[in-house]
Amino acid sequence: MPVTVDFTTGRLNGSAVAESSRNLADLAGVFLDEAARQALPPNQLAYRVQLYLPVPEGTQGGLFWGNTFIEPGLVGDEYFMTKGHFHAQRDRAEYYTTVQGHGALILMDEAGHTWHEVMHPGSVHYIPGRTAHRVANTGDTVLSFLACWPSDAGHDYETIVNQGFGARMRAVNGKPELIPN
Ligand code: F6R
Ligand code: ZN
Repeated sequence: MPVTVDFTTGRLNGSAVAESSRNLADLAGVFLDEAARQALPPNQLAYRVQLYLPVPEGTQGGLFWGNTFIEPGLVGDEYFMTKGHFHAQRDRAEYYTTVQGHGALILMDEAGHTWHEVMHPGSVHYIPGRTAHRVANTGDTVLSFLACWPSDAGHDYETIVNQGFGARMRAVNGKPELIPN
């Protein structure tokens, strides 16, 4: 069965599509207010990822495709977001394209300098190599985006677990603001 994408929702269809999800229980230590995270239901869905991996992980010259769906919500005053990562092969780049909803692509270079790009339906984001990336849902509906990256990029979550990003996307008077740590 061929793989298709529904451009109204961002949903990927086809038997070759794999799916994974992250609940708040999977995101220990990700948010600033850990007590607020623990006060929320651990089985609350934070985000889902659909993956189309047509070649084995690590293949040089191949490409992967992934669709991410982030639920709306806050942990304390911080928007629901992905864990975020550098690519293990540091120079590997990636494209993100927003389908539905509103959010922020938070980017960080290897020196910890952190900035963001606003995500809205149709926005295209080039993530250069050596740049950690994470997405926060700053709206009140599901945020969905498409991603395409090299199949030999790999993922380094560890550096983010240990060092975090240099800033966080937090609600200030109901509006998103990137606030340095
Ligand atoms: C792949 C990529 C995305 C993310 C996805 C979930 O390189 O950047 O497909 O993997 O948005 O975010 P993480 O992987 O940070 O939990
Ligand atoms: Zn990535």
